[in-house]
Amino acid sequence: HTRVLTGITTTGTPHLGNYVGAIRPAIQASRGANVDAFYFMADYHALIKSDDADRVEASRLKITASWLAAGLDPDRVTFYRQSDIPEVPELMWLLTCVTAKGLLNRAHAYKAAVDRNIENQEDADAGVTAGLYMYPVLMAADILAFNANKVPVGRDQIQHIEMARDIAQRFNHTYGREFFVMPEALIEEQVATLPGLDGRKMSKSYDNTIPLFEGGAKGMREAIMKIVTDSRAPGEPKDTEDSALFTIYKAFASPAETGAFAEALHGGLGWGEAKQVLFERIDSEVAPMREKYEALMASPGQMEDILLAGAAKARAIAGPLVETLREAVGLRSAR
Ligand code: TYM
Repeated sequence: HTRVLTGITTTGTPHLGNYVGAIRPAIQASRGANVDAFYFMADYHALIKSDDADRVEASRLKITASWLAAGLDPDRVTFYRQSDIPEVPELMWLLTCVTAKGLLNRAHAYKAAVDRNIENQEDADAGVTAGLYMYPVLMAADILAFNANKVPVGRDQIQHIEMARDIAQRFNHTYGREFFVMPEALIEEQVATLPGLDGRKMSKSYDNTIPLFEGGAKGMREAIMKIVTDSRAPGEPKDTEDSALFTIYKAFASPAETGAFAEALHGGLGWGEAKQVLFERIDSEVAPMREKYEALMASPGQMEDILLAGAAKARAIAGPLVETLREAVGLRSAR
């Protein structure tokens, strides 16, 4: 049996990077035989990045609707909101107490903040919350509360999964039993990092995203037209190696279609036309989901019911596991 788990932080609007890096492969994985899937809204993680309550709430609705519109079946998948599972923050504390501070010092997100401060000649920890510092432990708790063994994520999350393994190992070792299995990252090799409009990783923080549903087909087309290309004119052969446009196309097309597209570009297809081809390719996959997305966004109560039912299923798994851990660390007497 494989237990697959992944989450998306509820800040911002879901974009094509989230879709090809997490949502699409996770839904595919959930359809496999002998797979138990756990997918959730990482809303506690959102508080690390945003103190704008309205934004966190709006984002949760959009991301919930995106998963469902993209074909997630809540009867098949345990689909929930992180903050409905009190076992997660409880487990986080148990893990915190066996986590080396030095491990967290090495986390990319924390280190990047410190490096930025030093570069700006500020105090190393200026503006850094304890929440950002503890981020990897919260993520380890998400995974370990369900003993998930496969975690489909984009490449940017690999270090977090490695840290979850370190922390799990340390807990097992400290308390002398295999409480936790070692989780592994599951990376879609072909689309490990989807580039954004400017060629850097598509990311809310770079403001270079193509929204998945927001703005409709029109908004998606407008965004695609803004993808940065080189200045080669129509008729000149195009380089597909470093082209964000081509890399995005590849994430949405079969190998045969991708080959044909490469040939057309090498043969001088203009970037404007190429963008139209890319738009049509993506839209043919996304358009059928859009209507469902709109309908869900218009009925938040329905989404709330789905998430609460998912939370009940999730707690039925995490509850007994955390109870075992309470006993193991001496908080409760084993009966
Ligand atoms: P988040 O919300 O930043 O991103 C959600 C998922 O989308 C993937 N992703 C991408 N994949 C390919 N190309 C891109 N340009 C791109 N941008 C984002 C991310 O790799 C991720 O898989 N900490 C996590 C959320 C989280 C989580 C967890 C994940 C919390 N707890 C437990 C797995 C297991 C995050 O902030 O992802």
